[in-house]
Amino acid sequence: MEKIDFDTLPQRRGTACVKWDVLSDGETLPLWVADMDFRAPPEIISALHERVDSGVFGYAHAPESWRQSLAHWLALRHGWTIDTKWLVETTGVLRSLGAALNVFCANKDDGIILQTPAYCGFLEVIHDHGVKLFESPLRRVTSHGEGDFSYEMDFDDLERKASDPHAKLFLLCNPHNPAGRTWSADELRCVGEICRRHGVFVLSDEIHADLQMPGLRHVPYAKVADGFEDTFMTFWSATKTFNLAGLHVSAAVCANPKVRERMRRMHSIHGTGYLNTFGFLASSVAWEKCAYWLDELRTYLHGNYLAFLKFVRERLPRVHVADLDATYLAWLDVTELGVSSRELAQRLETEAKVKLSPGDMFLEPKGESFLRVNLASPRSMLMEAFERCERFITGSAIGA
Ligand SMILES: Cc1ncc(COP(=O)(O)O)c(C=O)c1O
Repeated sequence: MEKIDFDTLPQRRGTACVKWDVLSDGETLPLWVADMDFRAPPEIISALHERVDSGVFGYAHAPESWRQSLAHWLALRHGWTIDTKWLVETTGVLRSLGAALNVFCANKDDGIILQTPAYCGFLEVIHDHGVKLFESPLRRVTSHGEGDFSYEMDFDDLERKASDPHAKLFLLCNPHNPAGRTWSADELRCVGEICRRHGVFVLSDEIHADLQMPGLRHVPYAKVADGFEDTFMTFWSATKTFNLAGLHVSAAVCANPKVRERMRRMHSIHGTGYLNTFGFLASSVAWEKCAYWLDELRTYLHGNYLAFLKFVRERLPRVHVADLDATYLAWLDVTELGVSSRELAQRLETEAKVKLSPGDMFLEPKGESFLRVNLASPRSMLMEAFERCERFITGSAIGA
């Protein structure tokens, strides 16, 4: 088989894409929003071409073949057996989260527990729904992998938050964006015990599950909650794994029939249960034919992470990089540079011409500064971006 080309930057400017087209100039390199600067697998591209050539684009529905391709993927890749009836299709994981907030947080002061730092999209949806946020900070610990530090869950704090009668949901980010953690079976078991003790329903967002670093394995929350199927649901999608986010397709895997029906109803009310024909097709082909592509992608992303780590250690010794077990999103501690994450990100964008995500968007710990870096670009572009950052940091008063 021909080697996949992850080294050529596809033309993205002028394609109505968020990552590149919000930039104010033609010079800035974007390492922010979580999609990849790689072409999707060729099998997906040719299936989409064929569908375009049919020339017919009427209403779409979730075909049984799509449900089955996801069920096969979960069984083969993750050892998790599901019933295809459990799937509730929707236009995105954040839409599943929104529907779940409507289903579970009916009363004033009801809310959701979230471990911070947390993916900014969660924070926006929670804020927009006006539900209470129960923040449970992750604990910083020494590295267990290739980086400089890592995180673990604070189970005492989680128990305290879960014991509040208004805490209706726990949003588990598995694996965690931006902390980079792949949770172990023991950690997930502990989450389950605490949440069940207090009647808290678990939402397990596993959108990054396939993107483990080589050698690591994802543990679906469902596998450790076997026998307690009524107490959780899982959000799944092919869109991060195969770079299909603009096709808006995902599923909640929910064995609890009452919750499932209420989720469907919410999607119907809000129009988030109607998908497009390309999304179903692309994700089916991904799950059926593109496992080989994913394995090469994981190797390439790991190479990017190692190159990034080496660069930061040699050239930016006051910056510290979190272990990256999974995802392509590196989390950098820049506190020693003595500037807020917001200011640093802004200056990097305007003066160094590199767009990164500031840690305050993710509820970084108070008094500390972080940046999130999207590593899913051709390595040469990443190196160019890091060099620009280094020139700016060493050439300006920052970190002096
Ligand atoms: C953890 C996590 N969940 C959900 C999403 C968004 O998913 P969707 O585009 O399906 O709403 C992202 C996107 O970056 C993410 O990182």
